[in-house]
Amino acid sequence: MNILLTGGLGFIGSHTAVVLAEQGYQVVLVDNLCNSEIETHANLELITGKEMPFHELDIRHTTALVRILKEYQVDAVIHFAGLKSVAESSTEPLKYYDNNVGGTISLLEAMKACDIYHFIFSSSATVYGVPQYLPYDEDHPLVPMNTYGKTKLQAEEILQDVARSDSRWSIAALRYFNPAGAHESGLIGELPKGVPNNLMPYVCQVASGKLPYLNIFGDDYDTKDGTGERDYIHVMDLAEGHVAALRFIEKNIGFYPINLGTGISCSVYELINAFEKSANCTIVKKVQSRRSGDLPIYFACADKAKDLLAWHAKRDLQSMCDSSWKFQANLAKNL
Ligand code: NAD
Ligand code: UD1
Repeated sequence: MNILLTGGLGFIGSHTAVVLAEQGYQVVLVDNLCNSEIETHANLELITGKEMPFHELDIRHTTALVRILKEYQVDAVIHFAGLKSVAESSTEPLKYYDNNVGGTISLLEAMKACDIYHFIFSSSATVYGVPQYLPYDEDHPLVPMNTYGKTKLQAEEILQDVARSDSRWSIAALRYFNPAGAHESGLIGELPKGVPNNLMPYVCQVASGKLPYLNIFGDDYDTKDGTGERDYIHVMDLAEGHVAALRFIEKNIGFYPINLGTGISCSVYELINAFEKSANCTIVKKVQSRRSGDLPIYFACADKAKDLLAWHAKRDLQSMCDSSWKFQANLAKNL
């Protein structure tokens, strides 16, 4: 089977490309490199020992997408391409709607023009908003609190309408919790441009000396140790979840929103403690006030993924920290 990955050189796309290639799928990558590096392509071929065609392309270029879908006789598309900074989405909403919603429409139009109806979408736990109960299951109300989250929800709504309009469509919207970790080779991982927003890449850069200390955004929440709790999921587990979803949509028509998380909630201090073991260092930290828009705690109900996809996360927090640190240390060596 031939699979097109949009945003295929990004953090989650690149790890999924490895797992797909290892399981015998033919993978084609497109990315406009707005948040990734071309070197990742060579590293993907090195890890897998397979050729992986790559096209530098913006997904809003519908006619170019049609050409690629036809050239490689694509059977299914996994759509990772998107912008993901919550802070930037509030200052540049049009950029986010254009890229995340407009980009998705362009891709669906190109697929329809080529009679391709198998689609997996990168959604996010952020579509749920303030928890009315926990763990979040897929029936939880969808009230995103920021523009980024709204772009993900709008894309999901479009996908649901598209699936209703034509019974040939088979679509999974995978709602990721907090992806972390890297491939065991240390050759690919999370490569944020500029100062990282998310906890794990920030911790990595403090450990490597690139950043002086970690800001703890609040230690007075009503949580196990006062810091925010999240459901961190290893990016390789997430990658395997996509393969499971691909198998599922090959056999089932319609629209399926599915959480990909572990169901385990972990505090900022727990993550730091595990990371300090991995990197054999002490993370310098400063407690600051709460970050605007942050929730105290959220985590997944992972039952639907288990039931429908026969998938569950297997790797633990220590393995996320070990692999993240291996990747970060490799980066520092190659500078
Ligand atoms: P990433 O930024 O590493 O990867 C996204 C890739 O898409 C990048 O390589 C970027 O260059 C590319 N891209 C962006 N807009 C494009 C466009 N218009 N045309 C072509 N390429 C484009 O991000 P990621 O962490 O791998 O996330 C992948 C997807 O998962 C995103 O849609 C993101 O919103 C979603 N998601 C991520 C997280 C997370 O914490 N990483 C959580 C939930 C959902
Ligand atoms: C953030 C986004 C969310 C997005 C997710 C994945 C916000 C408000 N939410 O989620 O919409 O889906 O990233 O891209 O930005 N923390 C620190 N210091 C730091 C960084 C984070 O203490 O330098 C804390 C946070 O307060 C939080 C936890 O670590 O409690 C995790 O933060 P982060 O990695 O940014 O993920 P989310 O806040 O879950």
